[in-house]
Amino acid sequence: MPKTRDVAVVVGSLRAASISRRIALALAPLAPDSLKLSIVEIGDLTLYNQDLEATTPPAWTAFRDRIRAADAVLFVTPEYNRSMPGALKNALDVGSRPAGKGAWSGKPGAVVSVSPGAIGAFGANHHLRQSLVFLNVPAMAQPEAYLGGADKLLDAEGKIANEGTRKFLESFLSAFAIWIERNATV
Ligand SMILES: Cc1cc2nc3c(=O)[nH]c(=O)nc-3n(C[C@H](O)[C@H](O)[C@H](O)COP(=O)(O)O)c2cc1C
Repeated sequence: MPKTRDVAVVVGSLRAASISRRIALALAPLAPDSLKLSIVEIGDLTLYNQDLEATTPPAWTAFRDRIRAADAVLFVTPEYNRSMPGALKNALDVGSRPAGKGAWSGKPGAVVSVSPGAIGAFGANHHLRQSLVFLNVPAMAQPEAYLGGADKLLDAEGKIANEGTRKFLESFLSAFAIWIERNATV
């Protein structure tokens, strides 16, 4: 039996009613038993400024420690202006330092992009993947997850309402569990 893997879920939206956050919460019960998904907050991370490394903000340290402790990272993000939201890019930057000791390095990753629009936040998904290459995060290539029409995907209880999408997300998470085992460092 595979060991339980701690998956840090990073949500690219900060707003309380975020569809991406609600999708992230709906993913947890669809994951295989070997994956424990928990959201890691990014809203209290001061904008990255290298000058602050001298007196590292406690929120940066807590975030870096949390990502270092995780077995894998799952990004669930909307798209802002055909890219990832600045809050998510800031979290990537905060976690990437100090140089050579980045928290992301080597963590198996996966990306779910979310939009009410039809393109499913493709631009955010792929800009994020570009950064993940540099951060040494092996990001699962297939299946890809571009969730379009996402404002209509959840029911009143916050579950995925559409059976086809629910099954797709279950298979996505099962593939991610295999990907984690293939790329795990411990
Ligand atoms: C600053 C901004 C830029 C946006 N740009 C895009 C975009 O490029 N593509 C897109 O599909 N939706 C775009 N949207 C709409 C978002 O997809 C929509 O607001 C979505 O609900 C945000 O995600 P959230 O619900 O998780 O907060 C944008 C929204 C904002 C606030």
